[in-house]
Amino acid sequence: MRSHRRAAPRAALITGASSGIGAAFARCLAPSSGLVLVARNRDRLEALRAELPQDDVEIVSADLTTPEGCDTAAAAADTAGIDLLVSNAGMGRIGAVLDSDPKDLEATVQLNALAPLRLIRAMLPGMLERAAASDRRAGLIDITSTAAFVSVPGFATYAASKAFLQSLSESLAAELRGEPIDVLTLAPGPTKSDFGRRAGYGGGSLPAAASPDTVARVALRSLGQTPTLALGAEGAVFNPLTFGRQGFAHLLDLGRRVLR
Ligand SMILES: NC(=O)c1ccc[n+]([C@@H]2O[C@H](COP(=O)([O-])OP(=O)(O)OC[C@H]3O[C@@H](n4cnc5c(N)ncnc54)[C@H](OP(=O)(O)O)[C@@H]3O)[C@@H](O)[C@H]2O)c1
Repeated sequence: MRSHRRAAPRAALITGASSGIGAAFARCLAPSSGLVLVARNRDRLEALRAELPQDDVEIVSADLTTPEGCDTAAAAADTAGIDLLVSNAGMGRIGAVLDSDPKDLEATVQLNALAPLRLIRAMLPGMLERAAASDRRAGLIDITSTAAFVSVPGFATYAASKAFLQSLSESLAAELRGEPIDVLTLAPGPTKSDFGRRAGYGGGSLPAAASPDTVARVALRSLGQTPTLALGAEGAVFNPLTFGRQGFAHLLDLGRRVLR
């Protein structure tokens, strides 16, 4: 049997590349990997492309809450022949379920849970085929959240959607053992990005938030070394099984604020 090595990806597709952690992945993978950058905001994707040193950067403006958006991204992945998929796009909106717009709740599940499932299922066969025909291992990086490990009243749908992806991704790592692909499930803690502003809590205010660059670098370094990782204060790695509930205090406080 041919042996496969872990090397810098030939081409990576990153969802949610227009800001935060996704844009940091693109910067970290430059200049050695071709890139397919996916998000809705074309202007921000164009601005990122202009900043990157390599020529082979493709932009896909797609809404991943829709099946059509996922199909568009999957077609671009096939054309580019990707060997790394970073499922990173995500959203959440703080608020009690009863006070939330049902459309927001559904979009959260569509983007955080259903889109990664659709993209992985669509892209995986091609990625495995290409890896089998080469000497390089392919990779999947699934960005979850420390909210995947606890229920978070006040941020319930977000936490539930991330628990779905955490479980899916960890199971995939087991199912794909023996295949020329590595799977990393990465649960970031508070990270400095647009996320908190969009979610309605102002993310910069969370204590000890990590930089998106730290999150992306830890992920790329850990792919193939470990199947799952969680990040705490300032991006430090922790084990969610032994961390205890107090380790998630920032999340529980966040939820409590809206429920008062
Ligand atoms: N920041 C944190 O504290 C934190 C903590 C734990 C986990 N995370 C997770 O980390 C991931 C990245 O978040 P971030 O912190 O980098 O936040 P961010 O700066 O808000 O980035 C979110 C990305 O998702 C994209 N996106 C949102 N809705 C989309 C849609 N319908 N279709 C396609 N793309 C969409 C956004 O681009 P467009 O608006 O251009 O579409 C953006 O590129 C998310 O999965 C988030 O849940 C973040």
